[in-house]
Amino acid sequence: MKFHVLIMGLTAALTVNAQNYPDCPSCLKMNNICYNISHVLDFSAEFRKQVVIPKMAILRSKNTLFYSFEPIFEDLEYYKTGFVNLDNPDEQGVITGRQILNLGTFDIDQKNNIVYFGGSDGIFVLDFNVNTMSAYSSRGDTITNIFYKDKVYFTKYNENGIIVKNGDMFRVLHEDLQVKTFVVTKDNVFVYINGTGLHVSKGGLAHTLSIYPFFRGITMDLEGNVYTWWLDGIYKIDINKILQLTKMYRVAELADIGTIAFDNENNILFNVDRSLYVMKKTSSGCEIVGEE
Ligand SMILES: *[C@@H]1O[C@H](CO)[C@@H](O)[C@H](O)[C@H]1NC(C)=O
Ligand SMILES: *[C@@H]1O[C@H](CO)[C@@H](O)[C@H](O)[C@H]1NC(C)=O
Repeated sequence: MKFHVLIMGLTAALTVNAQNYPDCPSCLKMNNICYNISHVLDFSAEFRKQVVIPKMAILRSKNTLFYSFEPIFEDLEYYKTGFVNLDNPDEQGVITGRQILNLGTFDIDQKNNIVYFGGSDGIFVLDFNVNTMSAYSSRGDTITNIFYKDKVYFTKYNENGIIVKNGDMFRVLHEDLQVKTFVVTKDNVFVYINGTGLHVSKGGLAHTLSIYPFFRGITMDLEGNVYTWWLDGIYKIDINKILQLTKMYRVAELADIGTIAFDNENNILFNVDRSLYVMKKTSSGCEIVGEE
């Protein structure tokens, strides 16, 4: 059965495919764990009519969430990145430069408090220790993905391969692949979406987890577990040392999720339109009293 759970007092109606729990209308059970979904905040950026947020990630030391988005049509830029402090949502804004940058992708070096942004004029770096933004690499190129793990990994528009910047040197990995989005795990397994699906690869071996390329993104939680999501919910990818035994399964049935991220307590954050929600484990709420 599909129930529509409307969480009270929200601007956006959230649809949860879940049992309707009399004691907790905002609760959702997944893998036998009960979660309570609550509204965190509404993003204040000026979005396109249809809200598109391709990526969210938190600068852990400041509990500040960054999110890339498509701004209103009249805006000269087609992508921007906004931020909001989760402890103090009044502390929010949009990264702006003196020129058109279209900063649609970013990732965070948590250890050094640095955010790397990619856009239509290469990679920029925002250093929170000195609060300045400066050009970092690849001026003139359009950057379609940034991923940070000890080094900056990125992809360029219409070019194959994942580029790794190591000092002044660049190395191209997966030279033959045109990757839509990717992450690199702590064990250096690449998880990526390309035109023919979702795959994992390491050391020249690849394994296909899905032939559908419609997954919206890939992210990792604080423990390094990998998740992906699309129209019908959130999926976990259990990476096996033997790559071919890697499995993917759905952990939450949730319609219309824009993107997900993990907060500083490792709870799932997700957006539906301009609203941000958090899913927190709860010890009660998912009991069914009698027969409905
Ligand atoms: C996508 O990646 C898989 C696994 O690496 C590869 O076999 C396939 O050819 C790629 N598809 C495209 C369209 O590049
Ligand atoms: C679920 O969260 C709401 C607030 O969003 C709270 O009022 C309610 O008590 C919570 N219920 C449970 C079972 O945790």
